[in-house]
Amino acid sequence: MSELVKVGLIGFGTIGAGVAKILLNKTDRLAASIGRRIELARICDKDISSDRGVDIPAGVLTNDLNDILNDPEITIGIELIGGLEPARTFVLALLDAGKDVVTANKALLANHGPELFEHARKLGRTIAFEAAVGGGIPVISSIATSLQANEIESILAILNGTSNFILSRMEQTGANYHDALREAQQKGYAEANPAMDVDGTDAVQKLSILSQLAFAAHVNWKSVSRVGIDCVDAIDIRFARELAYSIRLIASAKRTQDGLELKVSPTLVPCSSPLAKVDDAFNAIQVVGDFVGPVFYQGWGAGQKPTASAVVSDVIDTALGRTAITSASLRMWSGDRPALAVRDAGEMVSKAYLRLIVDDKKGVMSVISGILGEFDISISSMLQPEKEAVDEPTYMIIMTHATSQRRLQEAVARIRGLDFVYGEPVCLAVQG
Ligand code: HSE
Repeated sequence: MSELVKVGLIGFGTIGAGVAKILLNKTDRLAASIGRRIELARICDKDISSDRGVDIPAGVLTNDLNDILNDPEITIGIELIGGLEPARTFVLALLDAGKDVVTANKALLANHGPELFEHARKLGRTIAFEAAVGGGIPVISSIATSLQANEIESILAILNGTSNFILSRMEQTGANYHDALREAQQKGYAEANPAMDVDGTDAVQKLSILSQLAFAAHVNWKSVSRVGIDCVDAIDIRFARELAYSIRLIASAKRTQDGLELKVSPTLVPCSSPLAKVDDAFNAIQVVGDFVGPVFYQGWGAGQKPTASAVVSDVIDTALGRTAITSASLRMWSGDRPALAVRDAGEMVSKAYLRLIVDDKKGVMSVISGILGEFDISISSMLQPEKEAVDEPTYMIIMTHATSQRRLQEAVARIRGLDFVYGEPVCLAVQG
């Protein structure tokens, strides 16, 4: 008879129901492969009457958290309610009650990681969080364990399934932004507040968690340069395709001599790049280590089943005592390692895509290219769709060679003020 490990689950939403499906329906298979019998002893939620498509044995559902906290046989608590409070209070209470914690809550870790990990360490407990980044992709355990021999040089990733779903749907089917977002919500990819998905917050929080692990650095997610996909118009997706690029919300982290470069922004990715082929709610992460070179991970970044897969893998790792390694790798979150400087966004350098609406008349292009030249910005290509009417405004697309964000923003501020330029110029980073 295998050793019994009892688990309490807090939060019976989409992911919680997925976790219950695995733990209740695959008990025997898990016991056979890991040598422990994992029992979902309690599920706590405010709503214990709605049907979640999974049969729960009598006596398991409760709306009293104390049924988990006060049961000494429950040794692992899973937090799946999301958000900051009461999730933070519940995680601290689980730790105080002597339980190891599994969470999928990246916002909680990004905001309160130092406090929670410090508390867990003091009590000799662990916090596992594979599901917090990359949905079902085992990237946390991979960076924390399998790549330990390496100094990580960079991370280039698609970390938000909802944004990726929206951008790839708009590209493939011509769907408009709002219809694509609604579809992502219906499929259960988006956060309760989808603004966090589309404004880049979710991806920034995930990037900051990956960076803490990869670079052994404190990273305050609020200091990471962030642009959401809400500035991307269908016309930009079309022009990008004409130029042989796809637009993706790219999260990047790079160790440089001047500090860590961290940013999340909609980016033109060459169609030949593997990241351009990442569609739907898939996530992808390329990690470059000094010995291993580039390693590429891809998988569903959101949704019930992939996220539940990651949560249950943490439950198993915790039951087997393996999560201590990841917790130890996060010592920097307790402040006992020096912080690496985060580079000012204005100093970061990349190629750029600039989309303007301008009067279609002589001299316009020369004034704009003159301003770019004044700021030492070199044009690599230009595109202006040909049309019949000469006295109507037209689009002008300018691709630049690598330039600093600061110089680009200063040049764009000058261009925006010209009387033959209309609306807000769209400025996107270009990979490569
Ligand atoms: N809302 C997230 C996403 C999934 O769209 O990627 C959970 O992290």
